Amino acid sequence: MYQVPLPPEYTDLSAEEIRSRIHAAKAALGSGTVILGHHYQRDEIIEHADHRGDSYKLAKDANLHPEAHTIVFCGVHFMAESADILTPDHVKVILPNLAAGCSMADMANIFQVRKCWQELQRVLGDAMSVVPVTYINSAANLKGFVGENGGTVCTSTNAPTAVAWALTQGEKVLFFPDQHLGRNTGARLGYDPETEMVVWDPFKPLGGNTEEAIRSAKFILWKGHCSVHKRFSLEQIAKARAEHPGINILVHPECELEVVNAADFNGSTEYIIKTVESAEPGSKWAVGTEINLVNRLAKEMPDRLIFCLDPQICPCSTMYRIHPSFLLWTLENLVNGVVVNQVVVPDKVKRFAKIALDRMLTVCA
Ligand code: 13P
Ligand code: SF4
Repeated sequence: MYQVPLPPEYTDLSAEEIRSRIHAAKAALGSGTVILGHHYQRDEIIEHADHRGDSYKLAKDANLHPEAHTIVFCGVHFMAESADILTPDHVKVILPNLAAGCSMADMANIFQVRKCWQELQRVLGDAMSVVPVTYINSAANLKGFVGENGGTVCTSTNAPTAVAWALTQGEKVLFFPDQHLGRNTGARLGYDPETEMVVWDPFKPLGGNTEEAIRSAKFILWKGHCSVHKRFSLEQIAKARAEHPGINILVHPECELEVVNAADFNGSTEYIIKTVESAEPGSKWAVGTEINLVNRLAKEMPDRLIFCLDPQICPCSTMYRIHPSFLLWTLENLVNGVVVNQVVVPDKVKRFAKIALDRMLTVCA
């Protein structure tokens, strides 16, 4: 999405000035404006958030304040869209920087998914029994697609429950856009990644598969990935274990299967936080997820050794686009009665996308 440049008066402010003006704008706006912050946001944003959480928690938190008429979503575009879908029509959802997308979400679009569906129909015939499941990291129209075709949304918190439910509704699952979360989830449910899963490459005929392979697969996994989580490796795990005997390896399920299998624990960002928080003082943790979250954990719990599994800094570059000066710009506009950067999901998309999100919230409650 295109983001208009910040007005010049917002580009040269000191961090302290931005901070105090955000406080002032928030106070002026009162409880009708709620700020949500994803765990990957930088500390200078998180300190202003009324609620912080993972994608699942924030999807639910979007509706926590019946008095709210505006939600400022400090996260990425698909999260703001989900909040717009799940909140009543009068609630406006604002993304402080419209260029804050998700590169994984961009790896599947509605045209590619429709084409895949048609090809599956051709191969599997009238008796096709495929349930589409989209990771919440996807555009609203893909959520609409799954809602319209009997499927559900999932998050990294509830993927096993959502996929297990999908397999009660049909014989196969088409999982997009993250092949790794799909594979990890299928493996966790007892399916064999080698013999029961195929990868669908949207740039190849039949996704790069034979008709026979598609017929015998239980899982059709979209060829998408997260560029942050793809960086974590077996070598990093071996190094952490060699250098810190007794260390716990804790990773996000967007990592590759071999990394998840070699780790001691895996789960969503909310799970990662709870696991480290409930650990013994003195325990050691190498964490395979985004650096802002890992650094915050290390700062908040100095009595534990906590570091990022990848020694190279690995921020989510799109989450990072929510700079405090953008937050300030959106809030001060609101104080002046001007709504900038509203994310609006068109009604015809919203209808089925809401069915898919509500299904997730019901199935995984
Ligand atoms: P969580 O739902 O675990 O917060 O993950 C969202 C995400 O984008 C991870 O890369
Ligand atoms: Fe998307 Fe990966 Fe960033 Fe999460 S960490 S928002 S999946 S690019």
